[in-house]
Amino acid sequence: MNRIIDLRSDTMTKPSPDMRRAIANADVGDDVWGEDPTVNKLEAYAATMLGKPAALFVPSGTMANQIAIRSLTNPGDEIIIETNAHIVQYESGAASALSGIQPCTLSAPRGIMTAEQVESAIKSPDIHNPLTSLICLENTHNRAGGTVYPLKTISQIRNIATARNIAMHLDGARLFNAVCATGVAPNIYASHFETVSFCLSKGLGAPVGSMLVSSKARIAQMRRIRKMYGGGMRQAGIIAAAGLYALKHNIVRLHDDHKHAQLLAQGLEKVPGIMIDAKKIETNIIIFDVGQFHQSQDNLFNALKREGLLLSRFTPTSFRAVTHLGITHQDIVDAIEIINNTFLQ
Ligand SMILES: Cc1ncc(COP(=O)(O)O)c(C=O)c1O
Repeated sequence: MNRIIDLRSDTMTKPSPDMRRAIANADVGDDVWGEDPTVNKLEAYAATMLGKPAALFVPSGTMANQIAIRSLTNPGDEIIIETNAHIVQYESGAASALSGIQPCTLSAPRGIMTAEQVESAIKSPDIHNPLTSLICLENTHNRAGGTVYPLKTISQIRNIATARNIAMHLDGARLFNAVCATGVAPNIYASHFETVSFCLSKGLGAPVGSMLVSSKARIAQMRRIRKMYGGGMRQAGIIAAAGLYALKHNIVRLHDDHKHAQLLAQGLEKVPGIMIDAKKIETNIIIFDVGQFHQSQDNLFNALKREGLLLSRFTPTSFRAVTHLGITHQDIVDAIEIINNTFLQ
């Protein structure tokens, strides 16, 4: 087989011919001077979609999160965040390095902290304690396997945050996967947070870029932080055009990714020795355990790779597969067959 089925991540998506045409035709100007018409259009579009007064285009999800944390905290503050959050696990310690904060990490099943858990982690105002100034949630939760934060839980945490004068940031890198899975509108999710970040790359298929949405004053402040972090871009309309295209054309199709993830999970359930519960797969990320096989994970990984199937190694005994716009129904059917043939050898 010479075709590659790449299920390592939805970051592998490539711009479609129509998206490339939008990129080629983009009007551009110097965005650091506020003169890129396509970036301005994208920011206005994103703000409206998320029901916030303003938005900011940034190069990556990591930068979006870090700008928000910098904006909402002071050095020495504590932020409450789930242990497996992307901000904790995969951002190179940036929140401590760039904002001088101390993370207060809470371990939660499926990545979903409860309101009680969050409340009990808020420090009293005693001068020995760090000031708890921010609560960060991740929806969908990447490392927990694409789990969706229940709106009720978000709202309960919001009530506590408001009562204690604590801000909330949403790492919504895959917010639109949550939107598709639940039917909850993006502005409803966003209404509970001071700042929301979401990615135009990954499932939405743009090659580069993330958005921050917030109030006008905070976006103005975050624009300054973006510059400080080296994220001020010049003729960025070239990539903003891809982002606009993604928001207009690639949200509804996330349902296909979720269907493909279900199909894959149900196929994996039938492979003796693989541990997975398809009912727990809510969006496009599947984590499954292979600890019962005699073969090492490396052997399994390489055997699948030889057959053209790429997965990522999640823990020493589990793999992760992520569906995305580069994956068809037939790819999933073939992936299940490859896994069956490889694992049952
Ligand atoms: C939940 C979450 N937040 C943030 C990011 C960071 O995005 P980027 O890779 O654009 O920096 C990712 C990337 O995978 C993610 O999964």
